[in-house]
Amino acid sequence: MVLTRFSRAVSIEYLPAGERAPRRWDLAPRFGDSDLSWVADASPRTLIAYDGRLPRRVAESILTPFRELLPDENIIQIEHPKKSLLQARRLWSIMMGIKPECVVAIGGGTTTDLVSFAASCFNRGTPTILIPTTLLAIVDASIGGKNGLDYQRCKNAIGTISHPMRVSSSMEALETLPCGEYRSGFGEIIKFAALFPGKLMDRLTSIALDISNPDNCQDAFELVTECAAIKSELVEGTGLGRECMLYGHNIGHALEVIRKGSRHGECVAIGMAFEGALAVKAGVLSEQRWVEQRHLLRSFGLPIDIPRGVRMTTLVHAMKRYRLFDGTEFTFIVPCDKGFTRVLVPEDQLPGLLTELDRWARSRRG
Ligand SMILES: NC(=O)c1ccc[n+]([C@@H]2O[C@H](COP(=O)([O-])OP(=O)(O)OC[C@H]3O[C@@H](n4cnc5c(N)ncnc54)[C@H](O)[C@@H]3O)[C@@H](O)[C@H]2O)c1
Repeated sequence: MVLTRFSRAVSIEYLPAGERAPRRWDLAPRFGDSDLSWVADASPRTLIAYDGRLPRRVAESILTPFRELLPDENIIQIEHPKKSLLQARRLWSIMMGIKPECVVAIGGGTTTDLVSFAASCFNRGTPTILIPTTLLAIVDASIGGKNGLDYQRCKNAIGTISHPMRVSSSMEALETLPCGEYRSGFGEIIKFAALFPGKLMDRLTSIALDISNPDNCQDAFELVTECAAIKSELVEGTGLGRECMLYGHNIGHALEVIRKGSRHGECVAIGMAFEGALAVKAGVLSEQRWVEQRHLLRSFGLPIDIPRGVRMTTLVHAMKRYRLFDGTEFTFIVPCDKGFTRVLVPEDQLPGLLTELDRWARSRRG
C-alpha cells in the first residue's frame, strides 16, 4: 500500500490479495481538486449508474464531465437503490443494450454494492469504477471488492468479490449528507479505531469534530485517509486480518434486517458495543478498552443498546441466517489486547449470553 499526497488530494495504491494489478483510491477535498484525467480516456461504452436520490448539486458536479463524453442512454439513474436481485436484473437488462466495457457507480454503499455486483456478473466480469458519495462508502464500502446483495432477510447473502479499478471521491459530496447518514459513517470509522487503537483512537478523541454538521466534513479528511489506508492494507492480506472488518457486523447485520431502514453504521455501533462486551467476558479484551470504545461511540452520537422492542430471540434468529453461523456455533471476530481474535459461542448459549451482556453493559454505564 502506497499513500501519495498531491497538492490537496491523496491517492492510495494497493494490491488486493490474489490480484495482479494494483488498484487506486483517490480522495480530494473538493470536486475541483479531483484527478479526473481517467474520465477523458473512458470508453464510449462506459455505463454510469447513479443514485437518483442524490442532491442535484452533487449529482451534476460528478456527472458533468461524463455528459460531455457519453450519450444520454449511458447515464442511468437508479431511482431507489436497493441491494436486491430485482434491481440487479434491471441493471443487467440495461447492460444487455449497452454492452458496457466499464461501469461507474455513483452513490453510497447501497448503490456501489448493487452496481458492482451487477457489473461483476455481467459478461463474466465487467470492470468498475466507484465514486462513493457517503462517508461510509468512501471510508469502507468502496475498498475491498465485496459486492453483496441482501436475500431472504440476510445481509449480503449473495455476492461476489471483485475490486473496482479505481475509486475517486471528494469530501465535498458529504456536505449535503443528512446528519444521520454522516454519523453512520463514523460507526465504521470507530470500528477501525477499536481494532487499531494506536493513532486513530487518539485522533478521534482529540479532534473536536462537529459531527452534527456535515458542512465541517473537511475536518475529517485526514481521519478518512488514515482509515482508507488501513482498509487497503487489510485487503492486501487474507484470513483473520481481513475478516476483522466484520467486528460488530454479526449483531449489526441482524439488526439491519430486523429493523428495516436502519442505518448500517448505527447497527454496527450497537454490534460493537455488544461484541466488545463479549470479548471482555471471554477474557480477551481489557474492560478499559471496551469502555473507551463505548465512550467514543456515544460521543459521536451513535447508539450502543439493542433498540427497545427487539427481542434477543428474534436477534439470534436473524443472526442464524448470516454466514458467521455454521449450524452449531456463532463466530464473533473481536479486538483483543494483541490484535483481534475469534470467539465461538454455541447456538443454545447465545440468547442467554446476550441478555447477560446487556445487563452487564447497562450496569457499567457511566
Ligand atoms: N462492500 C462493502 O465492503 C461494504 C462495507 C460497508 C457497508 N456496505 C454496505 O453499504 C450499505 C450502506 O451504505 P451507505 O451508508 O452509504 O448508505 P446508502 O447508500 O443507502 O445511502 C444513504 C442515504 O444517503 C443518500 N445519499 C448518498 N450520498 C449522498 C450525498 N452526497 N448527499 C445527500 N444524500 C446522499 C442516499 O440517497 C441514501 O438515501 C449497506 O448495504 C452495507 O451493507 C458495504
